[in-house]
Amino acid sequence: MAARPLDIDTAWELVLSAVDRSNVTLPFPGTETPAVRINGQGSWNLMQPATHEAQSLLSVFLPLCRPLPDNAQLNVIGQLGQSLDGRIATVTGRSRFINGDDGITHLHRIRAVSDAVIVGAGTALTDNPRLTVRRTHGRNPVRVVIDRHRRVPDSHHLFTDGEAPTLRLISGTYSKPPHAEVPPGVTDVPCLGRPEDDAPVDPAHILEVLADYGLRKIFVEGGGVTVSAFLNAGLLNRLHVMVAPMIIGSGRPAFSLPEIDLLDDALRPRAQLVNLGSDMLFDLDFSGT
Ligand SMILES: NC(=O)c1ccc[n+]([C@@H]2O[C@H](COP(=O)([O-])OP(=O)(O)OC[C@H]3O[C@@H](n4cnc5c(N)ncnc54)[C@H](OP(=O)(O)O)[C@@H]3O)[C@@H](O)[C@H]2O)c1
Repeated sequence: MAARPLDIDTAWELVLSAVDRSNVTLPFPGTETPAVRINGQGSWNLMQPATHEAQSLLSVFLPLCRPLPDNAQLNVIGQLGQSLDGRIATVTGRSRFINGDDGITHLHRIRAVSDAVIVGAGTALTDNPRLTVRRTHGRNPVRVVIDRHRRVPDSHHLFTDGEAPTLRLISGTYSKPPHAEVPPGVTDVPCLGRPEDDAPVDPAHILEVLADYGLRKIFVEGGGVTVSAFLNAGLLNRLHVMVAPMIIGSGRPAFSLPEIDLLDDALRPRAQLVNLGSDMLFDLDFSGT
């Protein structure tokens, strides 16, 4: 029996050791004492007392670690960090920092359990993000930017820092890569049709391209236009909305979906609410909706 209840740092180590595993008992790191049992259907049981924060972390992240049984299956999670009034940035595009420290750590944790992290050209251009795991342990995902018109400068971090491979999805006709693996460095992937096309590319096609590169656990990190396109296409298995106690009153909206008249037509996924500290997390489960 462990002397102390399982804390949040230990819970995170357990999450990392649970990636792509099922039907296993995970011990406390560095011991043989059983801590968590992961069952075949993605359910899990705690085998030791744990703090409230540790239990919340396990309940949010263990479903994301489940192995995908069949080669064709993908797991796609979206996120947005928004103010109380549903904004993800000011009118001029400033979004640093709507979410507090705990929300940012949460974002890095989602990256750490994902094969790939996707951002739209708007986010890559405005924020110049690194999309790496810096606030916690874990590996960096492959970085993917949807940039049909090559609007994002070559000097931005994604293309220069060498911290993780980057796929730049651009206009052009797609041909499947010879091997299901991502080369190191920056790879331009023509797959988004003609440059003069304005209509959004079907996000399902983007997922097929990523699957051809062996990427199956996909994190759609932003911004609002990109996450909304995946949500509208019914391609998100889960969505993490982090709400900060802040009112901006104007600015870029989180979600933009086709207009509806009746609230019966609104999306009502199963929801788990988790107090992250600085932000409130809505962990939304769209499987089965
Ligand atoms: N609070 C948060 O969680 C958060 C997260 C990320 C970003 N942000 C903020 O959000 C703002 C940017 O978000 P945004 O919604 O304006 O833009 P965005 O989603 O980052 O980028 C949208 C652009 O990406 C390309 N794109 C995305 N999906 C596509 C598709 N299916 N087919 C073809 N092209 C596609 C298009 O580029 P082209 O128009 O060039 O074709 C589209 O205009 C920034 O201010 C950033 O700071 C906030």
